[in-house]
Amino acid sequence: MEHDRGWREPVVASATGAQEASADGEGRRAESWRPDGPAPATAGVTGVTGVTSPQRLVRDGLVIAVDGPGGSGKSTAAREIARRLGLRYLDTGAMYRAVTQLALESRIDIEDHNAVAELAERAVLTIGTSPDNPTIAVNGEPVDDLIRTRAVTNAVSAVAAVPAVRRRLVIRQQQIITEASPVGIVVEGRDIGSVVAPNAPVKVFLTASTEVRALRRSHQLGERGVDDVARTLAELDRRDALDSTRAADPLAVPDDAIVLDSTALSVQDVVDEVLRHCEQASARAS
Ligand code: DC
Repeated sequence: MEHDRGWREPVVASATGAQEASADGEGRRAESWRPDGPAPATAGVTGVTGVTSPQRLVRDGLVIAVDGPGGSGKSTAAREIARRLGLRYLDTGAMYRAVTQLALESRIDIEDHNAVAELAERAVLTIGTSPDNPTIAVNGEPVDDLIRTRAVTNAVSAVAAVPAVRRRLVIRQQQIITEASPVGIVVEGRDIGSVVAPNAPVKVFLTASTEVRALRRSHQLGERGVDDVARTLAELDRRDALDSTRAADPLAVPDDAIVLDSTALSVQDVVDEVLRHCEQASARAS
């Protein structure tokens, strides 16, 4: 399947121009990845391709938390894990992006915390949790494409740092997790293992070098130039700093998370490793 492929050779895969533009660097349009050449062989981690038993793993409504910085490949990996296990999928970053999009559209000053908090309080988010077609609408308007623009990407860290916005969205995220039971759900974000679902039996923290994250993102945007990559890298650095140093629920590695560095891995490597940990969690629970 095409969405199994990707990452290990970001430069080679993207130099073909085969990937559609996406402004968020997380491979949200993973289905459109068509890296030319052979699928990456599974290596670097112990693989369990094809042996996972969803029935065994999800009988209690499994929650898998996937955290990590932008461009680390969370979305592509999280969606594939959800597909493989027959779980729902929630992209919490999309929720912060949707509030940001609404704030920009409403011409609200995103530094005005009270105004942003009020907006978030009133906004009705409708979220589809299929890993094949995750959707999000604000006040009835689909915003799936609008939330991936560079304008939203560059403004969202400020909105996500507002404590009242976080409180509101965390409650909504916890509702969605509850509603996904007994099927189970893969939830991706920055604070899932630490704040949103601290009891999740499987927690993954995905990283990648800043350079590789910037390269992936630039290539997703269809950029080729050294200057473009440098600009993307600077933006990523800025967002990382904001997300990691904010007072409310900063990006942090939960103590009990599996830390995976995807710099030199394929999507399949990462998925296999997470499924292996799911098997172990399932064995521990039974
Ligand atoms: O994963 P992303 O790039 O779509 O996230 C968008 C922003 O939202 C980013 O600045 C981090 C923030 N975010 C957050 O603070 N907490 C989450 N659970 C998810 C995203």
